[in-house]
Parts: sequence; C-alpha cells; structure tokens
Amino acid sequence: MQIVNTVSDIRDVIKAWRVAGETIAFVPTMGNLHAGHIDLVHKAKAIADRVVVSIFVNPTQFGVGEDFATYPRTEQADQTQLLAVGADALFLPSVADIYSPDAVTMVTVNGISERYCGAFRPGHFSGVATVVCKLFNIVQPDKALFGLKDFQQLTVIKIMVRDLNIPVEIIPVETVREASGLALSSRNGYLTAAEKSVAPELYKVLCEAKAAVCLGKQKFADIEQHGLRTLEQFGFKPDYLSICCSHDLSPATVEDTEIVILVAARLGKTRLIDNIYFSKDI
Ligand code: PAJ
Repeated sequence: MQIVNTVSDIRDVIKAWRVAGETIAFVPTMGNLHAGHIDLVHKAKAIADRVVVSIFVNPTQFGVGEDFATYPRTEQADQTQLLAVGADALFLPSVADIYSPDAVTMVTVNGISERYCGAFRPGHFSGVATVVCKLFNIVQPDKALFGLKDFQQLTVIKIMVRDLNIPVEIIPVETVREASGLALSSRNGYLTAAEKSVAPELYKVLCEAKAAVCLGKQKFADIEQHGLRTLEQFGFKPDYLSICCSHDLSPATVEDTEIVILVAARLGKTRLIDNIYFSKDI
C-alpha cells in the first residue's frame, strides 16, 4: 500500500494507474477505521482495479464547539487495517494541503443541507460537500463508496455529483452494525459503558417506527412523537426523528412507498445518528 501525503504525489500515483488502463474506486474517510469503513474498502476492491482510501479529519464540516480537536486520530491502527484489507493507496493530506489560506470557494447543496442534521449543525453539509468535491477533483475516481449510515450525507453527495456533472458513480453501502443493532461509528468510542448499553435503543426505536409505518394505522407525526418520547425515556436527548421520502428526504406522505426514517440523538456527550430505509408494502 502506498502512503501518500500530498496532492501532487497522489495525482502521480493515480496517473500511473490510469496510463496502465486501470479503474479506480475511492473511499473517503475521517479515519479511526472500524468494520463499517473496512467493508466499504472490501466492496471497493470488488468493483475496481485500484482502491484509494483517504483519511482526512475535515475542519470545515465541524461547527464551533464540536469535536474537531478531539476526533479520534488512530493513524497506525488505521494503516494496519488498510494494509490487511488490501487498499492500494492511502491518501493522508494535511489541512494545509487541502485548504489554502486564501480559499474562498465552498460547495453548498441548497435545501437539503439545512434540514435534519443540517438544522442542528449549520454549515456541516457545506463542509462535507466542499471536501468531497475537492477529493473527487484530486483522485478523479470512477466510483466512490459511501455508507448508508450517513443517509443525508449520501443524498447531499449524490445531488452535488448530479448538479456539478462530476464524472463519478456513487455506490451506497449498507450500514454495518454490532449484534445489538448499534450502527458502528467512530463516535461510539465516546460512550461510557452505561451509555453503550442504552445506545442500541436508537435502532430499536427505528425498527418500531418502521413497523408502525408499515401497519399504516397511525399518523406519521404520531409515530415520530412516540419515537422521540421513547428515546427521551431511555435518557437520549433527541434532535429529530423524521419519516422521509428516501429519494429526496422530503417529509413522507401516506402515498410515498420508498421511506427512510432518520434519527439523531445525543446520549451524554455523544451525538448518534442512524436510519432505517424500506419499501412500504402497498
Ligand atoms: P467517516 O465518518 O469517517 O465515514 C467514512 C465513510 O464510512 C462514510 O461514507 C460513512 O457513511 C461510512 N460509514 C461510517 N460508519 C459506517 C457503518 N457503520 N457502516 C457502513 N458505512 C459506514 O463520513 C465521513 O467520514 C466524512 O463526512 C467524509 C465523507 C469522509 C467527508 O469528510
């Protein structure tokens, strides 16, 4: 595995592969890799000749008072895992490599970026769209893989790629969960032992909400309220639990069949997000 720290060096590595006629899949991450990230790399290997993984804790997607400074940085363990899974290149740029001090350009996907997580993390999705757009320009992959765990992020990126004609195919990958149902996340490491035992309730509440939507007896607003109250009873401070149309994340109506239920809730100091998506039987 080639470990590359600068934009010009990764361009050179990729150029050599291109000249040899090889296809490239890209997995952008912020590191502290877990089995969810590694699954993306596995899937990437199956669909391209070469796999590039980036690890970059992107400052522009963190708000004031968020965990940019304390975000877990575990470079050595990450490299060991990427070597074992067979990534071809690891791109590890510095903040100065990615953001020139004179930079004044940001990418904003209007509308969707202000809802759900965007309403609680102003500017977050602009930071994500900007860095992903930049990484796409640097790596110029044929395919890029993103987890369905971050459903809203995936939707923002798909819209950006469509609107900016970026020549990359976005491949969504299923959420990897613990046996308890808890979605793997780098931020799970912030949970105390007591919080860790409660955290799986987040996914249980989503499963219950899905069952209620499929049963079709309750109004969506009532299902959402019930889910929020249940989370509060378990000690979460929920930001939102919303039943949405899965193509564009607009609020779902009873006519919609393709549904995603999005949730974000704080447990102690940790903010957890999750979702469940399904086709409603009609
Ligand atoms: P990060 O949180 O490190 O996630 C990197 C990728 O791994 C994302 O596509 C995310 O959806 C996916 N992922 C995380 N947990 C997962 C799980 N349990 N199962 C499957 N996939 C999972 O998301 C980011 O970084 C950043 O916002 C980034 C896109 C890199 C831009 O900075």
